[in-house]
Amino acid sequence: MTKRYLMTPGPTPVPEDIMLNMAHPIVHHRTKEFKDIFAETKKLAQQVFQTKNEIVIFSSSGTGAMEASVSNLLSEGDKALTVAAGKFGERWSQLVRAFGASAVELKYDYGDYAKIEDVDKALSKDSSIKAVFMQASETSTGVFHPIDEIGKMIKEKYPDVVFVVDGITAIGAIDVKTDEWNIDIMITGSQKALMLPPGLSLMSVSEKAKRVIENSKNRYYYFDILKELNSDGGSYTPAVTLIEGLNLAFKKILDEGLDNVFRRHELLANATREAALALGLELFAKRPANSLTAIAMPVDSSKVISLMKDYGVHVSNGQGSLKGKIIRIAHLGYFGKPDIIMAIGGLEIALKKLGVDAPFGEGVKKAMEIFVEE
Ligand SMILES: Cc1ncc(COP(=O)(O)O)c(C=O)c1O
Repeated sequence: MTKRYLMTPGPTPVPEDIMLNMAHPIVHHRTKEFKDIFAETKKLAQQVFQTKNEIVIFSSSGTGAMEASVSNLLSEGDKALTVAAGKFGERWSQLVRAFGASAVELKYDYGDYAKIEDVDKALSKDSSIKAVFMQASETSTGVFHPIDEIGKMIKEKYPDVVFVVDGITAIGAIDVKTDEWNIDIMITGSQKALMLPPGLSLMSVSEKAKRVIENSKNRYYYFDILKELNSDGGSYTPAVTLIEGLNLAFKKILDEGLDNVFRRHELLANATREAALALGLELFAKRPANSLTAIAMPVDSSKVISLMKDYGVHVSNGQGSLKGKIIRIAHLGYFGKPDIIMAIGGLEIALKKLGVDAPFGEGVKKAMEIFVEE
């Protein structure tokens, strides 16, 4: 028997009390009982998103909310700026094109991050760009983009442009200030730092975004943002069980305190990064996110991951061209200090078995030292 530890950047582990909360008998979605839970959950979401904007919850994976933002904001023939420095950034361009709009792509090498001056230049060159779509944290490379500076610049210089951020591996893990940073639509999914199974996507929608949606000639049926905003228990059958779990997940995050949650993620990220460096490994991300750590491997990373899995720790490979080159250790959501020591221990054992010349024990030691000093 191998005890399994899931340390992938989604799905992530679900706390025991949330699992038990979701084991309640099913509540009907048109009852007052459920409508109250739904309304309260949206209010709690506003606190975690750091926004006063209204919240929409879809029964879909995160990509559903990404698609909704594109299909509702853009009409055929519209232009949007898509920022891509990895797999998920590229998804924005695919979505924009799928709905008949054109994507002006700002592309970076994998591992790199978006620069405010590039976004500024792209917007200044083309006044017909209606929206900017980008990630907060690019999960395929472990990069955190400077969405704070970019959001403030857009507000100051291009006030009509709608700013859409995929915060799928940021919300609930990294301090992203939706309103302060002028983010019109902020998106997340349930299976990341919200500590739930997959199946829900959430988005906050500003008044400006709503006005643009109202004036767009868009094509969609299920993913209708304005319809959802005007319904008190969801337009269709909501994922009642997951929403009950989400309600508790938000309460747990807010009970811990947002600042404490962000500090915990920062500490775990710092220990993981420093441990990797102590082993003589290289971090892949030029501007690392606190939600996951991408580490370049000196040998085929698929072999490292397979040996780590034998030991019990499940981490992720690189995607696309990064497959076999990096490993991604997640620490977003229900994670604590022992998880990091365990993951680094697994990594060290795998590297040793593969004959990699890394100072054995130094990674775990470094992580433990960081936890002692903290
Ligand atoms: C940053 C980011 N965007 C989008 C997605 C896609 O989300 P989903 O697989 O829930 O549709 C993911 C999933 O890993 C992600 O990390």
